[in-house]
Amino acid sequence: MLLAGEDPIAVERAAQVLAEGGLVGLPTETVYGLGARADRDEAVAAIFALKGRPSDHPLIVHLAEPGDAAGFAADWPPVAQRLAEAFWPGPLTLIVPRRPERAAAAAAGQGSIGLRCPAHPVARALLRAARERGVPGVAAPSANRFGRISPTRAEHVVEEFGDTLLVLDGGACPVGIESAIVDCTRGHPVLLRPGQLGRERLEAAAGEALREPDDEAPRASGTLEAHYAPRARLRLMPAPMLNTALQVLGPGEVKLALYSRTVRLPPGSRLRHKPMPLQADAAAHDLFADLREIDALGVDLIWVEEPPPDPAWDGVRDRLRRAAAAS
Ligand code: TXA
Ligand code: MG
Repeated sequence: MLLAGEDPIAVERAAQVLAEGGLVGLPTETVYGLGARADRDEAVAAIFALKGRPSDHPLIVHLAEPGDAAGFAADWPPVAQRLAEAFWPGPLTLIVPRRPERAAAAAAGQGSIGLRCPAHPVARALLRAARERGVPGVAAPSANRFGRISPTRAEHVVEEFGDTLLVLDGGACPVGIESAIVDCTRGHPVLLRPGQLGRERLEAAAGEALREPDDEAPRASGTLEAHYAPRARLRLMPAPMLNTALQVLGPGEVKLALYSRTVRLPPGSRLRHKPMPLQADAAAHDLFADLREIDALGVDLIWVEEPPPDPAWDGVRDRLRRAAAAS
């Protein structure tokens, strides 16, 4: 059931559902989340069940205020403090050591916990209202079935889980791809997932280089090689290769859609084309909604133009690579 996120009564109702251990779909600035109170393992178990997510994949806990991190974190490394000061509330998740008695199910039993203070006004209003009812934080993965495209509109959440779930409608998510994740538990910060915040801005605020994940990096389903899968098979190609492939294909009746910035369909082609925005932020904003729209055309194949090598495109490139790997 969709309720208007700007309606304070709807927010109170959703907060009450959370307080009672139920699930709520909520908008954030990145993507929509599927939330449950983080301090109740049974409530969190319902998220894993509904998503079909393996229970050893940890969830991010969302906080009303940066200061609420102390309720979950056993230690707050200086680099976490610098990053939180720079980007919270905002699209950044910090992995820190977990208080052993807190949020074991949300953390999937790991000794660490992912924390994020989101900036979306509806998310913040909900988190505050829930906190007034004794909820110290809300565990929320992206509100999609495991491995599928993340939702950036309230209707996407309804598509994923049907109409029985209470979903606060906050409109289209302004960022459009998931938060950047920095692991601060290993002595040196590690970039587990790029987001709208890329390596350069994160390193400037951290005051040190971010390392690449290695084999010991904790498990992160958003960091699995194969993820964000449309139903159609997705192929990522540099523009010249894509142009050649389209020429070779000719005007035939292939169930194929092109998703590209600079590459156009050859004259006379009957293939479907969805333009990708030219700017990285706009491309991130539209990415998941565009993939859902293309997938709904019922094509067998989606050919995607590889984004430019510019670091501003890291987040979008990362999601497209994983979607290609998944198909
Ligand atoms: O933008 C976002 O981060 C969205 C919104 C709803 O906040 N959430 C999101 O959640 O993308 P999810 O579950 O789809 O991806 C969260 C990622 C997963 O890859 C998970 O494994 C990782 O965060 N993660 C969470 N806690 C972790 C931990 N303790 N150690 C390592 N990775 C962790
Ligand atoms: Mg996800």
